[in-house]
Amino acid sequence: MPPSPYRGGTVNDRFLRALRREPVDRTPVWFMRQAGRYLPEYRELRGDRDILEAIRVPELAVELTLQPLRRMPLDAAIVFADIMVPVAAIGVPVRIEPGLGPVVDEPIRDAAGVARLRTLEPDVDEPFVLETIRLLRKELRVPLIGFAGAPFTLASYLVEGGPSRDLARTKALMNDDPDTWAALMGALAALARSHLLAQIEAGAQAVQLFDSWVGALSPSDYARSVQPWVRRVLEGLPVPSIHFGVGTGELLTLMRDAGGDTIGVDWRVPLDRAWDRIGLDRAIQGNLDPSICTASWDSVEPAAIEVLDRAAGRDGHVFNLGHGVLPQTSPQNLQRLVDLVHERTVR
Ligand code: CP3
Repeated sequence: MPPSPYRGGTVNDRFLRALRREPVDRTPVWFMRQAGRYLPEYRELRGDRDILEAIRVPELAVELTLQPLRRMPLDAAIVFADIMVPVAAIGVPVRIEPGLGPVVDEPIRDAAGVARLRTLEPDVDEPFVLETIRLLRKELRVPLIGFAGAPFTLASYLVEGGPSRDLARTKALMNDDPDTWAALMGALAALARSHLLAQIEAGAQAVQLFDSWVGALSPSDYARSVQPWVRRVLEGLPVPSIHFGVGTGELLTLMRDAGGDTIGVDWRVPLDRAWDRIGLDRAIQGNLDPSICTASWDSVEPAAIEVLDRAAGRDGHVFNLGHGVLPQTSPQNLQRLVDLVHERTVR
């Protein structure tokens, strides 16, 4: 393994400062899915290995986490793992199909299925995640983010059995059988919370809750069938948290009320309008369209500048994409983007 350029304690804390809405020297920037197939060195190191297998080897997970940081001066690292790791760790058979996503062969659609979800014991069930975090903290000089999938997004994979466009089965269960739904969400909220707390104890300095697919819901469904369980996950965490979803324009105030020091927003709502909805007493993360990063730099630059202009140099902005980096993204574009954000936002 090549030496890490980041050995030592956390030196650059502008990311943590922004989550607390404290003044920063420059706007911090990191990218969801900053480790991944867009990097040739990722493809080479992962080889044909199943991603859930790769995550089980701490030295490998450490290296995959560090790869993007060796290329560009990102202001945070995110532990290389997946939202399905704690689900697999409690014995649910799940695999990740390249190019598709998580697949669950025996979907959960009734009370008996929910009853099979046992309590997560992080030290016993997923020691490799915690070891990866401990090793990373020795290497990193930027803050380390731990993460979990939110109950609704995890439920969507467990109920559908895989990725789905309309989440029809998930919504049917939610509406037809509120008791089973409550039991499922309760189990997944406990899973997500204990997964986050264990990562924090191992050294994660901030956490992000990914509710990637919650934008499929109406505000009333969200308020009734999702919000109470998100609140349970995020309430009183000992480190700053980011609460993220995609397609959440109409849900932003409900998500804010569910919790999170920082709300992560996608590109469908202009950043300043999203911040108005969330309220200026919270930090915001986002929100460049990841597809734009697959275009030429001449297209990326003005779009990135627009995001920065909408943030208007206010404290509490963490620059990110509105969703994860796409595999066809040019690494050079992201490198230039990091420099652009840092150069244009000197205070
Ligand atoms: O760099 C990072 O952001 C850290 C690692 C990370 C992964 N997954 C690794 C991964 C994180 C934070 C995730 C979260 C995740 N996983 C989410 C929430 C974020 C989002 O994108 O909305 C979701 C929904 C998943 C489930 C999942 N896992 C999907 C949809 C996929 C993509 C399938 C594909 O091939 O396109 C995965 C696989 C996955 N997780 C990859 C990576 C790097 C790609 C695996 C590969 O082929 O190498």
